[in-house]
Amino acid sequence: MRISDPNLIAAMAALGVEHKVGVSLAQKTSLEIGGASDVLIIHRHESLPELIHLLKQSGVPHRFLGGGSNVLLPDGELPWVVLQLARQEPDVRFEGNNVYVDCAADLGRTVTTCAKHDLGGMEGLIGVPGSIGGALRMNAGAYGTQIGTYVREVKIFRAATGRIETLTGSEINFEYRHTSFALDDIMLTVRLELPSKPYSEILQGIRICNEKRRASQPLNQKSAGCIFKNPPGGSAGRMIDELGLKGHSVGDARVSDRHANFFINAGHATAADMLALIADVRRRVREKYGVELEEEVIVWKAQ
Ligand code: EPU
Repeated sequence: MRISDPNLIAAMAALGVEHKVGVSLAQKTSLEIGGASDVLIIHRHESLPELIHLLKQSGVPHRFLGGGSNVLLPDGELPWVVLQLARQEPDVRFEGNNVYVDCAADLGRTVTTCAKHDLGGMEGLIGVPGSIGGALRMNAGAYGTQIGTYVREVKIFRAATGRIETLTGSEINFEYRHTSFALDDIMLTVRLELPSKPYSEILQGIRICNEKRRASQPLNQKSAGCIFKNPPGGSAGRMIDELGLKGHSVGDARVSDRHANFFINAGHATAADMLALIADVRRRVREKYGVELEEEVIVWKAQ
């Protein structure tokens, strides 16, 4: 979606919002799938309430994009303008065992920065792509670690009230790849409390997780991580593998040969290819196992 109203453009500029015209969103996602739209870069969190108010008043639909590593965007011209947060400097700040992190910060880099301050606990999350905000929203997890365990406070823009609010960790439900944040909440900063651990010990943990991940996941290919959530007590990857679907494809959307719950863009896959592959695999799993797989990746659909 393009913004053409000169009054709106001037008002956004006055707020310090950067307006990028006709951006290819494929470049902003790890799947490298997605059409084009105007992108608004928010440099100051405080400008969000007024910006959202202006967009609503002007009837401009919007969606917020984090690190782009767990989303599937539609093809063609998107029916929304896309909002993104600029990274704040510094993006990580320490106070004893408390770490204040900007939600636009990269998750992996944050884990290693904390390690250098002898703060651990998040070793399992190394290699999970994406931003801290995305990790919070999804309660990102791997190898027995989930980020929610360490969250003490989150500052968000709450679309429902139009205000910036601070929530304590106990006010948020962190479940398996799901949280109680509303879909249109925007994560701004988080306070994590991490256990003290010697740097060398954290590094050892990071090394082990990296090895496990390299052995089982297609890391150098275009993917959004796992496509489906694991059903209770089961493994989506194992079921898809048992069905012999590794390498199965629709256009350039393909089930990874390395991990069957990773669907990769093997060339120039479209959203339509990827959605057709998701639907096909879901149907086959339903027919064989009677299990309805739920997407783990966030699919942007026009409602
Ligand atoms: N398996 C197969 N074939 C495959 C893939 C897996 O038989 O192609 C089997 C494995 O041998 C294993 C079982 O399935 O016995 C589980 O596999 P794995 O240990 O790889 O873990 P997963 O359950 O598939 C989960 C998370 C990953 C996370 C890993 C490591 C979900 C949906 N997946 O995968 O998270 O990295 O554990 O902790 O929760 C993500 O969220 O995007 C993601 C990739």
